[in-house]
This record gives sequence, C-alpha cells and structure tokens, in this order.
Amino acid sequence: MKLKWLTTRNRVKQALSGGVLGITLSLGSSSALADTVEVLHWWTSGGEKEAADQLKAKVEADGHTWKDAIITGGGGDNAMKVLRQRAVSGNAPSVVQMKGPAIQEWGTYLVDVDAAAKKLSFDKILPTEVKSVMKHKGKYVAVPVNVHRTDWVWANKKLVEPILAKAKNQKGFDQILFVGKELKKKGVQAFAHGGQPWQDATAFEAISLSVGGPEFYQKAFVDLDLKTLKGPKMKDVFEKTREYTKLLDPNRKGLDWDKATKLVIEGKAGMQLMGDWAKGEFLVAGQKPGKDFLCFPVPTAGQRGFLFNIDSFTFFKQKSGSGKATQGQLSFAKQILTPDFQQSFNLKKGSIPVRVDSKVGAFDKCAKDSFSDFTNDKVRRLPSFAHKMAMQPDVESAVVEVITGFFNSNMTPDSAVKRLSSSVEEIIED
Ligand code: BGC
Repeated sequence: MKLKWLTTRNRVKQALSGGVLGITLSLGSSSALADTVEVLHWWTSGGEKEAADQLKAKVEADGHTWKDAIITGGGGDNAMKVLRQRAVSGNAPSVVQMKGPAIQEWGTYLVDVDAAAKKLSFDKILPTEVKSVMKHKGKYVAVPVNVHRTDWVWANKKLVEPILAKAKNQKGFDQILFVGKELKKKGVQAFAHGGQPWQDATAFEAISLSVGGPEFYQKAFVDLDLKTLKGPKMKDVFEKTREYTKLLDPNRKGLDWDKATKLVIEGKAGMQLMGDWAKGEFLVAGQKPGKDFLCFPVPTAGQRGFLFNIDSFTFFKQKSGSGKATQGQLSFAKQILTPDFQQSFNLKKGSIPVRVDSKVGAFDKCAKDSFSDFTNDKVRRLPSFAHKMAMQPDVESAVVEVITGFFNSNMTPDSAVKRLSSSVEEIIED
C-alpha cells in the first residue's frame, strides 16, 4: 500500500524552515524518574478517554507510571501551544501526541525508539509511507497508533434515513445538503457543528473532497498549487460550504465537537461532518451503527477518496537523560503496535488499526468499510490538512484562518478564494 504524502513544495518548505518554527529550544528535564512517562495528549471526550485508558493500562502493566499531561481542545491546537511553551522552558514531557510534518520539525529534539521498532519489526508491519513519516534521519522517533478518517457523515438514523432515500437523485455533496434542507423544513437542526476553527476546517476539507474530488484536493491542499487554489472549483467549494453554513446553528461559538455529536445522538440534530473519533461517542452512549446511527463517507463525484489522519506519539529527549530513550518511553513505543492493543484501542477510539496485517473481524461496519477503503488502491488516500497531516504548520494556520473567517462571516465565495490563495502564496513565496 502506497500513500502519496508530502509533496515537493511541502518538503522544500520543511527543509527551509530551520528547526522548530524558528525558535531555539532547550530539552526536557528530569530523567531521574526514567520510568514515569508523562504523556501530553488531548483525548478528553468519553470515547477518547476510554481509548487512552487502554494505553495507560498497558504501560502500567509493564511496570511504569503514567502521568497525564492532558490539554483540552479537540484537534490538538492547544496541546501544540503547550508543547512549545514547555519545550522552551526546558520541561518537555517524555511522550507527546503529534502528527505528520510536525514530527520532522521536532526531529532533533526526539529520541529514537529503534530498539522497540526492531523488536516488533515496525518496518514490516507499517504502510510504506507511514513509516517514513515516523522516522527522522532513518530512525523511528514516532510510533503511529491508528488511522482515522475525516470525510465522514454521522447521522441520526431515525431522522435521516427516510430523507436519504429521497435524496438519491442528487449528486455529490448536494445529496447531503438536500437532507439538511429537508430536516430544516421539518424544524430539526440539520447539522451539529461545533464552534472552533479546526471543526470548520474538518467540515471544509470533507466538502472540498466531495465537491472537487480527490485530484482537486491533492492539488489544492497537498501540492498547494496556486492555479487550483485560485480556480473555479475552489469557488464551487466555497459556494457549497456557504449552503452548508446556512444550515448551522448561529449560536455554536465555542461548542466542543463531542457536545455537537451528542446533539445527533439525542436526536436534536440530524448529521455531523466529523472524523470517526465521533463514533466513540455514539458507542459510549450505548448506540449501535446501522441500528441507531449511520456512518457514510461524503459522496464524491468521480474517483472516491479517503482523508486520513494518523495519531502518533513522539518521544522527547530529557535534559539529564543519556540522549537515549528511557525504559518507559521504549515500553510505550512497544505497546502501541502489538496486535492486541491495536485491536482494543481502535475498537474504542473509532479508528482502524494501522498495522497492515491487522484483522478487523471484531470491528463494526463503519470500521470495516474504512479498513476496506484504506487498503483499496482504487480509493485515493489523501492526508487531512485540518488534522495537521498535509501542510507545514504555518501554511495550515493561514488556510484555517481563511476557512474559519468564511464560516463566521458573510464573506463571499469570490473573496474567500482570493484570500485563501493570496495567504498561501505569501507564505510559499517567502
Ligand atoms: C485526533 C483524534 C482526536 C480528535 C478530536 C484529532 O486531531 O487525531 O485522535 O480524537 O482530534 O480531539
């Protein structure tokens, strides 16, 4: 399985970026407590917590102490801010949840966990392009734990199924908008959508894939191709997004993603565009896929796509350490990819296992569909930019700022296209 990931433009930018966002960092402190693993992460919702507890139990069963450094805020923006502050003051946690390109940026501050990688043959069990992103200078400095998909629609079955049947003649994202508009006519909130920039970006990337198709998504958000960013399809995407925002609750500011999911669970809203961590919330509430809720990827015109978001953990050097991974860090790295942990963790998290040799017989239909798409070469796998898999952090912030500006104002699609392309252009031409 080959994943087309960072492109030349993003790689060049990475090489030029000169260390972690241009700041000089000191290393983390305290390796006296070598077997206490302080874990910085943002898994706080019901489903996320159950999944994180699986990991904690494993690390503790191996004789180490797990110390939580939980930073609330879905998507991890707050966690990354705290990481920078802690690293600057010489107090980096030993284990940090991190994504895609950022792993390379932090590379020199990380210890390698090759001892664990050799033991579990990471090179054999991980997809080709996933493992290259986990390595810095040829050594594993990060370990992936799952594969999330972000282009999902989560729907309350009772509310949505009867309308979906009538939406068959509609194509692509119009199908979803049709259902939303029908719900609105009935006085039901069409979409549950939280009020934070990363949630706007998550819905927007799904709409982009749906409206523009995989090749458009690749060119616009992975290759950062200015012609595509300025082009007519980009305008179509913003136009459809405007139809979508008109169906949202205007009082959503600050609403967390899991509170939005709860609205769908309770039948107070029909659908949510969100990654499959949302499934964890349905499961915690005792709901079953196909019976109480529906999951389906956004319909795309032409070739199907799959927006992936891979959670991984990195291991930070500790100030008074030897520069090598501690026993606690190695234990952590080793636990994540064992077959039984891949199973128990991902069953709770809503994601699918990242090991290529995984068996998914025990998983539900949403996960089985996701696994079969992820391993099907006819479905184009693309990195989620809303979840930090596709772009360098500075480009991503600029893109998300325009998107969230559009969601929360009366900006026209024309003006959004101009703002988006010019802010990307400014950064990549720097
Ligand atoms: C992470 C998920 C997490 C979600 C919501 C995503 O960026 O990859 O693991 O559940 O944010 O917090």
